[in-house]
Amino acid sequence: MEEEKGFETNAIRTQHERSAFREHSVPLYMTSSFVFDDAEQARAMFADEISGNIYSRYSNPNTDEFISKLCLMEGTEDGIATASGMAAMFSSMAALLKSGDHVLACRSVFGSTHQILDTIFPRFGISYSYADITKPELWESKIQPNTRMIFVETPSNPALDIIDLEWLGKLAKKHSLILNVDNCFATPYLQTPAAWGAHLVTHSATKFIDGQGRVIGGAVLGSKELIKEVRFFTRHTGPAMAPFNAWLLSKSLETLAIRMERHCENALMLATHLEKSAEVVKVKYPFLPSHPQFALAKRQMRLGGGIVSFEIKGGLVQGRRFLNALQMISHTPNLGDTRTIAIHPASTTHSKLTEEERALVGITPGMIRIAVGLETITDIIRDVEQAISASVNGGEA
Ligand SMILES: Cc1ncc(COP(=O)(O)O)c(C=O)c1O
Repeated sequence: MEEEKGFETNAIRTQHERSAFREHSVPLYMTSSFVFDDAEQARAMFADEISGNIYSRYSNPNTDEFISKLCLMEGTEDGIATASGMAAMFSSMAALLKSGDHVLACRSVFGSTHQILDTIFPRFGISYSYADITKPELWESKIQPNTRMIFVETPSNPALDIIDLEWLGKLAKKHSLILNVDNCFATPYLQTPAAWGAHLVTHSATKFIDGQGRVIGGAVLGSKELIKEVRFFTRHTGPAMAPFNAWLLSKSLETLAIRMERHCENALMLATHLEKSAEVVKVKYPFLPSHPQFALAKRQMRLGGGIVSFEIKGGLVQGRRFLNALQMISHTPNLGDTRTIAIHPASTTHSKLTEEERALVGITPGMIRIAVGLETITDIIRDVEQAISASVNGGEA
């Protein structure tokens, strides 16, 4: 029996079959379709009697390689690469739900996932309920006879609350529900939801998987049985990942482990530093002992992740001054980049929510989210420090 390989080895050595040119690094298969050997092969491939590439909306060697790596990393049987994270979230739900079904989701899901649940799905007769991460005791009472799926993100964005995946896996099993976990914040290097009972693991590959803010992409991973349904849906509705993005993202996965180690190390150092600042009211980071779910985070995650959120004194006004005073750190909505990024969730990523809804998911008016990058940590801390000082001393809000 072949010995199981390590996370990094799988990420680096899982490679599409070498072509006749004997390349070392996998080439980019920039082709819309593939040529059949003969009429019988064409018939058999279309009839799913034999596998093989037909058309890049269905499959492509680059997307296959990307997905093979992610499956090994997440411990899932099969998967689909999608054009974006949202295409992954939408396809993973739409492929498996029908009119009359109900979804139970954590309230703190990503903004566009909210839009799918609140606005788009109700048009197709699919209803939803939200449950709060901080009140797990209420979740079971929200399961209805027509509930078919539970959808969560952990850690949550941007409050960084943690859901106990072992508990949720058992709850989903007890009620025969599909548990779908958006694992984009943690990545498979920090946590593998399938090991706790998740049936589907979804990703925005745009974040830490790319890691350098270059392309948009996503993935849906799970059992062969569920992915068969998702594949049927994506094959015919078309949210396929482009070969170039798959080629690039597969190369990015080679360095995911080493990048996540440094993202997490830098984030912990920044969070620890911020906790000592007199101008900061509160710091949230899963691996800070002050995090309310520190013990759970330690049990479930290898490291604390690359995101730190904090509440600056003086609320919204001082928070805006802080952002305007940053010199090196970028002010942009992405995360999971080599470059450190800051954003004010209440006025940007979560501005569509009401003040009350934001409060329910832990977003205060002065909260700043920092996606800690890979620059030298002393430079990151210096920029944050000078922006905090500038925000105290006035300046443009
Ligand atoms: C947790 C989470 N899920 C999904 C998405 C959507 O991914 P994409 O922008 O790749 O469509 C994002 C960010 O954009 C996200 O932060």
